[in-house]
Amino acid sequence: MTEKPTFYITTPIYYPSGRLHIGNSYTTLACDAMARYKRLKGYDVHFLTGTDEHGQKIEKKAAELGMEPQAYVDKMADAIRDLWQLLGISNDQFIRTTDEAHEKAVQGIFQRLLDQGDIYLGEYEGWYSVSDEEYFTETQLSEVFRDESGKVIGGIAPSGHEVELVKEESYFFKLGKYAERLIDYYHSSEDVIIPGFRKNEMINNFIKPGLSDLAVSRTSFSWGVPVKSDPKHVIYVWIDALSNYITALGYPDQENEAFKKYWPADVHMIGKDISRFHMIYWPAILMALDLPLPKHIYAHGWIVMKDGKMSKSKGNVIYPETLIERYGLDAVRYYLLREMSQGNDTVFTPEDFITCINSELANDLGNLLNRTVAMINKYQNGSVKNYFDCVEEDQFEQNLKAFFDKEYSAYLESMEKMAFDQALDHLMAMVSRANKYIDETQPWILAKEADNKKLPVVLFYLAESLRFIGHLLRPFMINTPKEIFRQLGIEDEVSTDLSGLAFGHFPKESQVVSNGVPIFPRLDVEEEQAYILKEMTGKSNQDQSNSSRKLDDPDWDLESLNLDATIEFDDFIKTELKVAQVMDVAPVKGSNKLLRFRLDAGESVDRQILSGIAKYYPDHEALIGRKLIIVSNLKPRKMMGYWSQGMILSAESGKDLHLVFAPDESQNGALIG
Ligand code: MSP
Repeated sequence: MTEKPTFYITTPIYYPSGRLHIGNSYTTLACDAMARYKRLKGYDVHFLTGTDEHGQKIEKKAAELGMEPQAYVDKMADAIRDLWQLLGISNDQFIRTTDEAHEKAVQGIFQRLLDQGDIYLGEYEGWYSVSDEEYFTETQLSEVFRDESGKVIGGIAPSGHEVELVKEESYFFKLGKYAERLIDYYHSSEDVIIPGFRKNEMINNFIKPGLSDLAVSRTSFSWGVPVKSDPKHVIYVWIDALSNYITALGYPDQENEAFKKYWPADVHMIGKDISRFHMIYWPAILMALDLPLPKHIYAHGWIVMKDGKMSKSKGNVIYPETLIERYGLDAVRYYLLREMSQGNDTVFTPEDFITCINSELANDLGNLLNRTVAMINKYQNGSVKNYFDCVEEDQFEQNLKAFFDKEYSAYLESMEKMAFDQALDHLMAMVSRANKYIDETQPWILAKEADNKKLPVVLFYLAESLRFIGHLLRPFMINTPKEIFRQLGIEDEVSTDLSGLAFGHFPKESQVVSNGVPIFPRLDVEEEQAYILKEMTGKSNQDQSNSSRKLDDPDWDLESLNLDATIEFDDFIKTELKVAQVMDVAPVKGSNKLLRFRLDAGESVDRQILSGIAKYYPDHEALIGRKLIIVSNLKPRKMMGYWSQGMILSAESGKDLHLVFAPDESQNGALIG
């Protein structure tokens, strides 16, 4: 027997520092679709996922909860495992960076790089963001704060987190040495890096400006893998984390069966934010270890909300459990894999989610199955026979078959490229085509005319189309393909793989179920939208329902009563709000966010306020003369070398931001309150 070809696919390993939302879950879901597809195509698949459990962030989080880090990560890793089970993830292995074998292997990797001179001891000073666990150079910061002399005294990382200046003895990895080889690697085949534009991003943003050596140890915290020969240092989390892809296969034991069989990885699937780590650091480490490089690194985009990133503080996070509980596993898997297009961000909205289920799953797919099963019951007592290639076929059948053949090739091509949205486009095109075939052939007329020759052929073609579609859904959905096969009376189909799939291979005969139930009930758009919004924000339509109540209703205000509000009136009154008129405004050089305002707040001299609203007001000069509301007693603060005395009020609305204007007739300096 010939050995099966292998396919090794990995997800990033997740930080167990919080609950995973639909965004984090996407990477694992995408890998799962690919792993299932490859298994169906006859590959020996190894699908790895896991948790990235070391680092300062985890140490802090555990301390906040009064827990030992190990106890904390044990609990969180279990929750992540449970989530993957709920999402139907078919991983073959789950690695944790606190696994003993992994820790030992990481120490070994570090020591080897140290011994061979790829790592050396030095001193590091840089802008460090605890939340990102990353150092930034001044130019990488999205905002810098300076003192009067212009010296940088702080800043904000691209993630929005504040950075602090940290100086520590550190080991360094000679990253620069691998610059040329990295470029060669990117060009070694057309699709090593997917999508291709990330290649240029890596080259132009990081490699061309010069790769500085990478600090690969920390002394500022202890929750990590210690350097064996110098245990006051712990190994940088990214070296620890990235190594999981090989330690999971038994590395450093290169004779390990799993390692021999599966390395190099076929695909590292990641989110776009961790491209640099996977496309620069990881291949460079592998080069230093003299190991073959991954065949593909695929960075997908993010799932974002209308108002930007998902975040608890914005109240816009949506968890997979919430959606699965109400809409079922397959609807959630389908939607996420359908909506995300290769490499780009996707905006999640409750409307899109519900509309997608209604139109594609309930209407198109669900109705096709329902109508087919109902007609086979009605016209043929539930029996359907294979009439492929029989004399009664005419142009409708030929066209349908040709369409399926064409779309199937396109589906396979998209799957090979991991373009799941496109694969589902092709699949849905087949569903629509089969629905159109019903309209073309009008089986109810054939029945009326008692056409005993053509009618069984048409019903067979419909059943066969559904069998075909059921198979192609298998990488994406868990229960629906089985249910389609069950309703068609061909349960055994579920044990066949995709390699022999061909249109026409329906069993000789089958008996469909006598009462086919809808696979995706239609949802009420408004009701469900409100439900999802409530789950996201904790606010329900009911909460807002007092808007229609009359003021003379004695209880009208009780519904809005918020007893959890935390500040007293005396706290609020400390904030001084004033009307201030814009006398002049200009962008701040070197910042694409800040505008510098000169404002008349009714004081003896104008005051200056800096505000990060430049991108919302490209036409900022139009603001001259307008009256704004400012917080006038905030402690002055320096930004980009300028003093800012106060804050200008604005209202966030979705992706936009609007300044709050005071009425033109209000006096400059008038107190608000
Ligand atoms: N621990 C690192 C990865 C180490 S891999 C050697 C890490 N973990 S993470 O938990 O923060 O993120 C895991 C994955 O979730 C990343 O691929 C990240 O891009 C992805 N996502 C996080 N939020 C996301 C969305 N909103 N949408 C899509 N993917 C998102 O990074």
